[in-house]
Amino acid sequence: MRIEPIRSVKGTRDLLPPDTSLWQRVEAEAHRIFAAYHYGEIRTPILEETALFARSVGADTDIVMKEMYTFRDRDDESLTLRPEATASVVRAYIEHSLYNQGGIHKLYYLGPMFRRERPQKGRYRQFYQIGAEVLGSQNPLVDAEVLEMLVLFLERVGIREYQLPLNSVGCPKCRAEYLKVLREALQGVKASMCGDCQRRADTNPLRVLDCKVEADQPIIEKLPKIIDHLDPECRRHFDCVTSELQARRLPYQITPRLVRGLDYYTRTTFEITSGALGAQNAVVGGGRYDGLSEMLGGPPTPGMGFSIGLDRLILAAQAAAGLESDVPLAAYIVWMGEAALPTAAGLARDLRAQGLSVEIDYEPMKIKKAMGVASKLQARFAIIIGEGELSTGRYQLKDMRTGEQKEMEPGNIAAYLKAKL
Ligand code: HAM
Repeated sequence: MRIEPIRSVKGTRDLLPPDTSLWQRVEAEAHRIFAAYHYGEIRTPILEETALFARSVGADTDIVMKEMYTFRDRDDESLTLRPEATASVVRAYIEHSLYNQGGIHKLYYLGPMFRRERPQKGRYRQFYQIGAEVLGSQNPLVDAEVLEMLVLFLERVGIREYQLPLNSVGCPKCRAEYLKVLREALQGVKASMCGDCQRRADTNPLRVLDCKVEADQPIIEKLPKIIDHLDPECRRHFDCVTSELQARRLPYQITPRLVRGLDYYTRTTFEITSGALGAQNAVVGGGRYDGLSEMLGGPPTPGMGFSIGLDRLILAAQAAAGLESDVPLAAYIVWMGEAALPTAAGLARDLRAQGLSVEIDYEPMKIKKAMGVASKLQARFAIIIGEGELSTGRYQLKDMRTGEQKEMEPGNIAAYLKAKL
């Protein structure tokens, strides 16, 4: 009887070496840059109560209506695999009363998110985000600094060509006024729009603006723009964000339709898109969410942040050739004769303990074959230990790039390899 192999679940995938080394490098850069801006890492659970997302992301959004992995636990509680992490960060902020410590909280996270979308290039059901959130400040300089950090990070990982569409969705006060105007405008045109838009024209008219149906686009283009209906405070906030971005030489494009697919946003919203990605071109999404803490039962706490889609970031970085997977193997150790094996294994341990990447095989091999393995593994050096080397206590080091070979005492090898790498 043939046993059918089990495959990974649709929309999920295995990440394998050498690609994972790229992921590690990107993640290491995020840890470095976010730490430089004085953010601390937060790790929240992947499982949350379903109500968390219904209340924050919004009950009438695609994410909550169609895309969440929600199930009843054995005690009948409704749980959801997180579709995003901003809601979890704010939940944790409230749960641990971080607001009692006063001041601003700057947190970042890395990890898997789950949305049951139709899989395609750059769109998965399990995908990964790196995100950062600032809690406790309304200051537009925070928005500008968050964007500055984001752009620095993107450039560091090799993304140099991107767009930064930017908008303001106002505050609940001016948005209510705008929604009246939008609702009225929609009454005249909704009959010729898609089914979702017809429903949303009444339930959640802002969502009409991010409809992707081709035939609806010319209609949407003519709808009133929220940016023309900001109240004086929201207008001032937005003007300050844009002038700060100019001062920091960060190019952006004001994009009045950018309202984002989540309900918690207030004022600043933005994305980062990359032409290298095709249809799923948004690498980053983010913005301000000054009312989210209160929506989740916490004290008034303004917030601002972003999430980078790591799967898409890696695709874009690979397309830009700014980042290649490279796992430099410092040395491959070649041993000749059983007597040399313990010495060879000891040398491997010493070099590895000093942080050098070293490979050794434990099956005896002829020298020619072993050198073939060294070059297949793209080792920078082959270190050869045979009978002669055992008796002199000096090993052969072969530079695999130049072919040059020299003798060296074991105590000097690590420093030499480090200098050469
Ligand atoms: P979002 O726009 O829903 O925002 O997601 C951010 C990024 O996650 C997207 O730009 C995209 O790169 C990536 N992403 C989303 N869905 C998928 C998918 N199915 N497959 C691959 N990548 C995907 C948020 O999640 C907010 N939490 C952002 C935020 C943080 N706003 C304020 N703070």
